[in-house]
Order: sequence, then structure tokens, then C-alpha cells
Amino acid sequence: MKRSRALALAVALVAATTLASASHRSAADLTSRLVDSLPLSARGGGDPVPEAVLLAVHVRQSTNDTDSVERLAARAIADVDGRGLTFATRDGDVERRVVDARVVFENDASAPLTFARLNDVLGLRESKITPEKLVEASRAAERAHVGASFDVFSGVYGAAVKTTALRWLSQSATHENAWVIEPDVAWTGEDWVSLFERYYDDGAVDVDLVTVNATIGDAKKMAKWPHYGSCEFCREGDGVWQRAFLPVFRVSKRLATAVIDALKNGTTGHHEAFIPTVCSRAEWCTWVTIKETSAWFRYRPVLAEAEVGENGARDKLYHPIKDPVVYRALRNATSDEKDSLAIAATK
Ligand SMILES: *[C@@H]1O[C@H](CO)[C@@H](O)[C@H](O)[C@H]1NC(C)=O
Ligand SMILES: *[C@@H]1O[C@H](CO)[C@@H](O)[C@H](O)[C@H]1NC(C)=O
Ligand SMILES: *[C@@H]1O[C@H](CO)[C@@H](O)[C@H](O)[C@H]1NC(C)=O
Ligand SMILES: *[C@@H]1O[C@H](CO)[C@@H](O)[C@H](O)[C@H]1NC(C)=O
Repeated sequence: MKRSRALALAVALVAATTLASASHRSAADLTSRLVDSLPLSARGGGDPVPEAVLLAVHVRQSTNDTDSVERLAARAIADVDGRGLTFATRDGDVERRVVDARVVFENDASAPLTFARLNDVLGLRESKITPEKLVEASRAAERAHVGASFDVFSGVYGAAVKTTALRWLSQSATHENAWVIEPDVAWTGEDWVSLFERYYDDGAVDVDLVTVNATIGDAKKMAKWPHYGSCEFCREGDGVWQRAFLPVFRVSKRLATAVIDALKNGTTGHHEAFIPTVCSRAEWCTWVTIKETSAWFRYRPVLAEAEVGENGARDKLYHPIKDPVVYRALRNATSDEKDSLAIAATK
């Protein structure tokens, strides 16, 4: 029996799940679990399972700039496309997967870019991110699919990219997990794989949600969150809810499916509450927080060059970055071969 799965990198990276709580798994899951328990040689060890990394971007004619954060972000995910991820399972087996980088994009509604233009705008023409790896997101399509719940779920900008990424994963026959990454995030490790690898070993590959936990213990403080009022789902059941900060997250196919199903069922809430709360209320769902955050991994304000300049640290996440100079400076200041180009020297 041969498994073929793929990874997406559009602002969503999908990772395979092999969780063991059988009572909650479907027959398909059971099959997958049985296959997972076979030694590598018995499952065609030459075909590594693909892991999706999805870069989620909004394209605009004004993104025309040949020097943009979107372009740098697309380059960073294109750089890891096809890269191997090798990790040890809980049973001590060595498993290998391969990164499948993709771009989930929402087009400029007033003046849509062609795929060719999009490739140029994102600087992907020379990369392996071919048109088949571009996943188009549209508000109308998402609303038609999940219903009116989409409007609150998608947040203040009404963006379709995250819903599309979740739906892409839930409908994928080949991918079991996806990393979803916003373009305004910089990771100062060697490359994105060096972050991903930290969340695969020793059973971590089976975790349903890998993302920053933004939940506060105090329920009164939680209720002050501006999106709490519109979060019907938060108040359902025991009313205990969770919040995540989602510029970078990894989600399993079964959690993506549960989120889409819950939206279709007519309940809603902002995605930063909805996704982790669906997980926390499902008996089978596991969630680990991302630890590699810098002091500059926040909602707002946008990172200023002077602010992060000399303080850039290696192996940390930074957000939000809107200026390509800041993005490059962080990467330069923290990468081995470019230490001499540290931001201080460019001021
Ligand atoms: C972006 O570039 C395209 C192709 O060169 C051009 O047609 C379009 O007008 C440009 N848009 C802006 C906002 O500069
Ligand atoms: C998230 O944080 C909340 C509040 O501290 C805590 O109750 C919850 O267990 C945390 N969840 C995870 C997965 O870390
Ligand atoms: C759908 O929503 C109803 C009403 O909120 C709830 O009782 C039910 O459990 C939900 N079903 C699923 C499958 O989530
Ligand atoms: C970062 O390094 C590149 C060369 O690798 C250089 O062209 C660029 O100017 C540097 N940027 C900053 C802000 O230091």
C-alpha cells in the first residue's frame, strides 16, 4: 500500500497526523494509522510524505513593487520547497517527509492579477512554485461554502485566505497537516524548516494545532477582547474559550475539517478564538504553543527598523513587518554568512 501526501506552503503548512486515540478516528484514519505503524521499507520508503506550507497573501496591483515583504516571504517559502524533514517518531522509527510549498492568495477584487502577474509580483517565476501550487481564495467562494459564519470568522479584513487554507487541507487527499504563514512574519533561524523541525519529533507530528497561545487565565480580561462580542461559539457549552495568535500556525487535517464543519453548522467567532476553541472542546484535539517568539512578535505596532536593529536574535519569530528593509535586516543580522551585514552597519 502506498501513501502519497503533499505539503503546502501558501500560508498553510500541513503535517500528517497519526494520533492514537482510536475511538475518535474514522475508518480512513484507522487505515492511515495502520499504515503509519508499518516500517518505512514496507510503505515505499523512497516516497516521503509531503508536508504543506502555505503562504497566505493578499495581492493588490499596488503590490507591484519589486521590493516588498510579500516577495521576501514568498522567496523564503520557495527556498524550502522540496526540502526533507527527518524526525523520530514516538516508537523510535525515523520518518521522512518533504516540504511542499504553496501560496494561498486572495486576488485584487477591483483589478485581479493574472497568474503570470502574480508570479512576477511574488518573484516566483524562477522558483518551483508553479501555477498548480497557487491556491486562489475568494470571499464569495468561502461564504458560499461555509455560509454566513464566514463574515465573523474571517476577521476585520474579511480575508478569505485562512478559510481557504483550512478548506484546502480538509479536502486534500494527500496532506495531513499544513503550516499557514502570513507574509509579514520573519523567522530568524537558518530557514523555515529549522522552525518546523522542532515540532515533529517524538509524537509532536501528531499534534493538531501548533501556534502561539494568547489565552489569558482571567475570564473577565478575556471578555474585553474586541471580538468576544461576536463570538457566539465562545459562549456555547461551558463558555470556556481559548485564543491563539495566528501569524504562523500548523493545523491537522482533522482539526481543519472540524473547524469548517462547525462553521457550516451555523455557529461563528473570530478565527483567533474559533480555531483553538474548536480544538480545546474536542476530546481528540491536542495543541502546543510555539515558543520561539521574540519580544517583537505582536499584533501591533508594525516593527520599526530602529526598534529591532541591534536586538535581533537568532531562531525567533518577528511580526508584523511591512518594510522589506526591516525584513532583510533581521534576516541578515541573524544569519551566519551575513553577520557582517548586520543592520547596525547599514544605518
Ligand atoms: C503594475 O504593473 C502592471 C504591469 O507592468 C501595470 O499594468 C500596472 O498598471 C501596475 N500597477 C500599478 C499600481 O503600478
Ligand atoms: C493556553 O493558555 C491557557 C491560559 O493560560 C491555558 O489554560 C491552556 O491550557 C493553554 N493551552 C495550551 C495548549 O497551552
Ligand atoms: C451544531 O449546532 C448545534 C446548535 O448549536 C449543536 O447543538 C450541535 O451539537 C452542532 N453539531 C455539530 C456536529 O457540531
Ligand atoms: C542584507 O543582505 C543583502 C545581501 O545578502 C544586502 O543586499 C542587503 O542590502 C542587506 N540588507 C540590509 C538591510 O542589511
